[in-house]
Amino acid sequence: MQAISLSSGTSIQVDVPLQQYNTLAIPAKAAFLSRCTNLNQIRQCLSFAADKDLAPIVLGEGSNTVFAKDVDGLVILNRLTGIEVLKETEQSVVIKVAAGENWHDFVKYALEQSWFGLENLALIPGLVGAAPIQNIGAYGVEVKDAIESVEFIDIASLESRKLNQSECEFAYRDSIFKKDLRDCCIITSVTFRLTKLADSNISYPALANSVPQSASPLDVFEAVCEIRSSKLPMPDDLPNAGSFFKNPIVSASQHLELIERFSDLVSYPISGGGAKLAAGWMIDQRGWKSKSVQGVYMHREQALVLINPNMKSGQSVLHLAGEIQADIKCHFGVTLEIEPRVY
Ligand code: FAD
Ligand code: EPU
Repeated sequence: MQAISLSSGTSIQVDVPLQQYNTLAIPAKAAFLSRCTNLNQIRQCLSFAADKDLAPIVLGEGSNTVFAKDVDGLVILNRLTGIEVLKETEQSVVIKVAAGENWHDFVKYALEQSWFGLENLALIPGLVGAAPIQNIGAYGVEVKDAIESVEFIDIASLESRKLNQSECEFAYRDSIFKKDLRDCCIITSVTFRLTKLADSNISYPALANSVPQSASPLDVFEAVCEIRSSKLPMPDDLPNAGSFFKNPIVSASQHLELIERFSDLVSYPISGGGAKLAAGWMIDQRGWKSKSVQGVYMHREQALVLINPNMKSGQSVLHLAGEIQADIKCHFGVTLEIEPRVY
């Protein structure tokens, strides 16, 4: 494969297949791709992209990414590593984690040190740097609750900046990095505050049903891993990007209307009124599980997860997604929003 070497030794590959860099295994190509293990390399790649007028795209493990077409810019693989304790007391610890560390390995590492708060987020694929982007969440916990600050390189100025937790504007599957700062920054590290108090959060119904009230954080970690393994397919076996749609949030009046029409509707009231609907239930009800369209289908065990076993194009993936969105809108009057980032 052809490669360009920059003066510092940073190497940029040309015309690179992306199938191995996205968990949906979409066979798109990138005009340029570089694997960066330090901040200097990232800055050099950004300068190269600016000189050549190429859009930079940063990728972790590609577990929340859909390539609708070939990428004509520069893909930067974030592979920064390192974990550093910044502060420790009897009750808590503050740890700075480089963006290229594997998320699940970090969750395990924290638990091994008896630092708690992340165990409900076990087995989520991807790297630490992507966790704040959509404020990853599972089994009653969102990562925002453990984040103290996020450091990033500003793509335009190449300067390092830091936002504290409240400045990140975290919400359900959302943050400032998907809004005002979308495509403007490369997250280089995330600083977490974890507790040493072994309090477990077992509020999520599926979790409460599988562990006793007295469950330790380790019990929660193991239960979450077991529940996830029973219904979420491993991307290596069945290419997927986790939930393909967000669970939609509706107003209190629309919620009431829906309950009147569908007495078995699965929904969760949210603070401030309204409710979050289980999109998987709606898709399941409409018979989409295992129904193959252009070789792409929704998972047999979890209708919210789109599977691409035949490594079809992003267009085929988005075609099925569009059919489902239209059907759910027509039947329930609800708009489903795609969760992964589409390029
Ligand atoms: P990528 O897919 O590489 O990137 C996603 C987006 O973030 C892209 O727009 C990318 O440009 C941007 N990005 C990535 N890294 C950086 C960075 N350093 N700086 C700036 N931007 C960056 N998510 C949940 O919230 N909860 C779940 O329970 C969950 N379960 C999943 C289960 C499966 C089987 C799969 C495949 C996915 C699941 N996901 C879940 C989605 C996914 O794991 C998360 O969104 C994860 O954080 C993505 O990490 P990544 O490194 O693969 O990101
Ligand atoms: N359901 C069905 N049929 C299905 C799927 C779900 O009826 O095929 C119903 C069931 O009643 C179930 C309810 O929907 O009790 C909720 O399902 P589940 O607990 O599997 O959670 P989810 O709402 O489908 C969300 C997240 C997941 C996260 C789980 C656990 C979103 C978009 N998805 O899924 O995150 O792991 O909760 O907290 O919020 C991801 O983002 O990629 C992801 C996997």
